[in-house]
Amino acid sequence: MTSTTVGNGSVLLISTPSPGVVLLRMNRPEKLNALSLELLGALQSALASAERDDSVRCVILTGTGRAFCAGADIADMSRGIAAYEDPERIAAQTAVATFPKPLIAALNGYALGGGLELAMMCDIVIVADNARLGLPEINLGAFPGDGGTQRLPRLTGKSVAMQMILTGEAVDAHEAKRIGLASEVVAADELMSRAIELSSVIAARSPQALRRAKQAVLQAFETPLSAGLAFERTATAAIFATEDRTEAIRAFAEKRKPVFKGR
Ligand code: COA
Repeated sequence: MTSTTVGNGSVLLISTPSPGVVLLRMNRPEKLNALSLELLGALQSALASAERDDSVRCVILTGTGRAFCAGADIADMSRGIAAYEDPERIAAQTAVATFPKPLIAALNGYALGGGLELAMMCDIVIVADNARLGLPEINLGAFPGDGGTQRLPRLTGKSVAMQMILTGEAVDAHEAKRIGLASEVVAADELMSRAIELSSVIAARSPQALRRAKQAVLQAFETPLSAGLAFERTATAAIFATEDRTEAIRAFAEKRKPVFKGR
């Protein structure tokens, strides 16, 4: 396993732990990786690079220290509405939510407020057994304003989402999995190896099929069933026209692994 770390000492550490996999590690441990504008900007630019680079097939997002991310930077938010509506902040969030390649959130500890909202923008969430997930904004006289009120009920249903948002109380890792916020709970010291293993499996798949599959699943949250099914049909037809699809069918017949080229 090779690992090259770029920007050591910066707010975001970038490495390539396995072929086709980029690992982004939020790195403000002294502030529990709260989302400063600097961190959000670094995240946005790292995702833009990962999107451009055809060799990148899957991205992992995690945090240094005892938090994935403790949310919006409360010190910054004391600037008021201007901080909340800061175009740089919104652009960075959009970059995460619309990133076209698979994005795995590996929650290594606290995922609170904007931290959980960030995780919910990712495609797959796996959690360390010591993680705590919650939307505590109500304790600060507000409520989740970065997608939490919309994404949480879509994942957990109304009653659970209402309870979390109206009480501000966090849930532990096993509860997070039970209510549909995460797909796996992993021992804390195995979180990264599992995230890399999962990403490597995904990275070996056809990039075009991954991209279309992700688009199609995200449509399920946007459209009525009939429109979603129409989207799925069109996306599937497009995949049938790719070289990678032809190669996969040939490889199956020849009893070998397919070699995907992203075409
Ligand atoms: N924004 C800015 N700084 C934050 C932060 C945030 N969202 N969350 C934690 N920090 C900072 C703390 O101010 C502290 O900094 P300091 O040492 O300079 O005082 C440092 O991170 C460590 O946090 P601390 O509160 O001392 O750790 P703890 O173990 O006692 O508590 C939490 C951990 C997560 C329970 C607590 O930090 C917390 O409630 N954070 C706020 C979470 C939140 O409300 N997020 C939503 C924001 S809208």
